[in-house]
Amino acid sequence: MILAPTPYNISLAASAIAAGKMIGLPTETVYGLAADANCPNAIANIYRAKNRPSNHPLIVHLAPQADIALWARQIPDYAYQLMKAFWPGACTVVLPRTQYAGDFITGHQDTVALRCPSHPVAQQLLTVCHQLNIYGVAAPSANQFGRVSPTTAHHVYDEFKHLDDELLILDGGACEIGIESTIIDCTQATPRILRYGLITSADITRITGLAVTSDMTSASNKPRVSGSLTAHYAPKTPIRLCTVDTIDTLHPRVVLMGRSPTTVCSAHYQAMPNDALHYAQQLYATLRHLDTMGYEEIIVESIPNTDEWAGVADRLTRAAATFLV
Ligand code: TXA
Ligand code: MG
Repeated sequence: MILAPTPYNISLAASAIAAGKMIGLPTETVYGLAADANCPNAIANIYRAKNRPSNHPLIVHLAPQADIALWARQIPDYAYQLMKAFWPGACTVVLPRTQYAGDFITGHQDTVALRCPSHPVAQQLLTVCHQLNIYGVAAPSANQFGRVSPTTAHHVYDEFKHLDDELLILDGGACEIGIESTIIDCTQATPRILRYGLITSADITRITGLAVTSDMTSASNKPRVSGSLTAHYAPKTPIRLCTVDTIDTLHPRVVLMGRSPTTVCSAHYQAMPNDALHYAQQLYATLRHLDTMGYEEIIVESIPNTDEWAGVADRLTRAAATFLV
């Protein structure tokens, strides 16, 4: 059931979380499937509903007034600088965990991922939860594992309408950012990006004065970041990246998702913005829309190889990887 984000409905959603249920939660990045981060049964329900492997850890979402020391220890100065600069917002920090962060949240890893979202509805929900002694809310993106993340309340409804226990979904409008938070590993001497997002490595260096490394593949065989799987974020329609100058004509049942006016002869053209911020904002909604159109293939004009496009490029590359054999 999709609910307007009135104070009453936010309290209703917080009570559902307190009762061990899941809800659909808007954030500024994507919608989350949210539950009490300290309730093993509720977390088990999230994994089941998403069909997510249990060794893929979840991000714990914190209220603005939360005490981070409850969840994390050995917090380096640069992590504090990042939280000060980017919280509330689309920045997730990975830190050594305390005993309070259960194995069922961290996928048995010795670290925990934390984020304080800026969306006003998420902030209000987390604040009411905090008042109910729920000090962290786990919220993976509210989609079936491996699929396109949701950026509206209706997307969440479409993903989970089959659940026996009807999901309460707070409607926070279309997500402003549209792709998931940047995940930064803060367990080493210098920051390491585990998942690209709106916050770029240049932003991290500007705030911390430190060089940033990145680790998308994660050398360990533990899947630290499910977005680090080569194939992820995929629509149902096969999707492929191409430079436009290599295409002459397109099959009539194919759609081209382009950023620039093109001379390519295509019956179907999906115009996308030519700047990274707006492109990211529209990406998942566009993929979901194109999935309903019955095209044989989605061809995406390739993305500039720059820092600001890194989040979009990462999602598209992984979506396309799903269809490579
Ligand atoms: O923007 C976001 O981060 C959204 C919104 C809802 O907050 N959430 C989100 O959650 O993208 P999810 O579960 O779809 O992706 C979280 C990622 C996963 O790839 C997971 O493996 C990684 O965070 N992660 C969680 N805990 C981790 C840890 N301790 N170490 C490394 N990666 C971790
Ligand atoms: Mg996800």
